[in-house]
Amino acid sequence: MTSSTAIQRTLALIKPDAVNRATEIEKTIGEEGFTIVERRTVKLNKSEAEQFYEEHTGKPFFESLIEYMTAGEVLAFILSREEAVAHWRKVLGPTKVSVARQDAPSSLRARFGDPDNDSHNGTHGSDAVASAQREIKFFFPDLTLDAALTGEGAKEY
Ligand code: TYD
Ligand code: MG
Repeated sequence: MTSSTAIQRTLALIKPDAVNRATEIEKTIGEEGFTIVERRTVKLNKSEAEQFYEEHTGKPFFESLIEYMTAGEVLAFILSREEAVAHWRKVLGPTKVSVARQDAPSSLRARFGDPDNDSHNGTHGSDAVASAQREIKFFFPDLTLDAALTGEGAKEY
């Protein structure tokens, strides 16, 4: 298998304010060729959200990000597809809702982000294979299958 056709897994989140749009978001997940390998509904507490986003500790938006992510339940998914990590990021669109609406109007963040709050973008995706491995373990710690694996060698089930 060449790297261009590698089956990967990535971690997707529907953030609290977009959970009420989950049916539409899951429709796009399917249309974009992803398989939902696992799914969970999770209510993050403050320290869990801080751990998930630890790379952003101390940044000006950190506290409001943690408040946003702990405002209600999130839906977590392990998605599988060829080049899942990069493709899911493309489906998400740019981080900021205003940029997404301008540059990628059909992206999830353009469609389901809050037009009145640039940071409330409604959906998340791992930014690299290594991040996907960490984030999958974070949300699915009890998985006995090899779901922490991404990239070549990951089994389909
Ligand atoms: P980041 O990891 O940079 O973006 P992405 O989610 O696209 O990987 O940031 C994490 C989240 O933090 C982002 O989804 C929304 C929020 N955020 C802000 O509120 N303000 C900002 O300036 C940035 C960069 C991010
Ligand atoms: Mg990120």
